[in-house]
Amino acid sequence: MKDLITLKDLGPSMLAELVTEASALRDTLDQGSAPEETLRGRVVANLFFEPSTRTRLSFELAAKRLGAHVLTLNPATSSASKGESLRDTVMTMAAMGPDVLVVRHVNDGVPKQVAEWSGLAVINAGDGTNEHPTQALVDLVTLRRNFGRFQGLHLGIVGDIAHSRVAGSLVHALPQLGVETILIAPDGWTPQGSTLPTTNRLDSVLGDLDVVYLLRVQTERGGRITDPYIGHFQLDKHRLARMRETAVVMHPGPINRGVEIADDVADSSRSLILEQVRNGVPTRMTVLRRVRGSA
Ligand code: CP
Repeated sequence: MKDLITLKDLGPSMLAELVTEASALRDTLDQGSAPEETLRGRVVANLFFEPSTRTRLSFELAAKRLGAHVLTLNPATSSASKGESLRDTVMTMAAMGPDVLVVRHVNDGVPKQVAEWSGLAVINAGDGTNEHPTQALVDLVTLRRNFGRFQGLHLGIVGDIAHSRVAGSLVHALPQLGVETILIAPDGWTPQGSTLPTTNRLDSVLGDLDVVYLLRVQTERGGRITDPYIGHFQLDKHRLARMRETAVVMHPGPINRGVEIADDVADSSRSLILEQVRNGVPTRMTVLRRVRGSA
């Protein structure tokens, strides 16, 4: 694997392989064993032009666990703040000889552009409203560890789907693995041209779902939080009580308590949100190993 820009073209066998490998690495980390340092001496450069907690820190830790050196560009304190263009910033980083660039940007398509400019291995850490492939892989790992399978699961993605790059990757991956996926959102909040089933009535499908996958309203991209939205779509304790006994709650984070998710749901035993975070490091270790061709 040269890059990881999108999940569109990976195919079910590669997706399943990555999930299996990441899950095995998670077990290794849980046992306190040291994974093989397959990136020893290599350099992983993080270029995050948009804020991040989970993705940036887990890539950093993943790279360190594999023995790599990590360079992290902070755009606010870099020469990008003095007017240096994106291309010049990227080529400056590339000239220092990193092996892998991990790129997050507010605009769709930037990681692909960076790969073309630099010729280096690039991992998309989230581009605009387009894709967030490693978060979707984290979610697949979490699903399979919880349910032991993908085939036949019913998963509803709820909320600001049109602005969500995580949903942008999940909709490529979930159907390939046999997960029955439904988009649940107010009218106009789903991506145009989606062929997946869609509803604007969470309450009518809640009892059929194995997974309620919540999304934040992305106000920075034009999403609006309104009282009717909270009333119809917030997962609160009353809705949680109507879910299947074995159904779980997922969210890529960051969560907005009191908007898409109530406090007691976020902190309940049915929430896999922190489990998703725990799977972040082994999943990103897997991707880093793959793009370096070392696995
Ligand atoms: N899920 C996710 O991308 O979170 P961060 O923005 O904190 O990286």
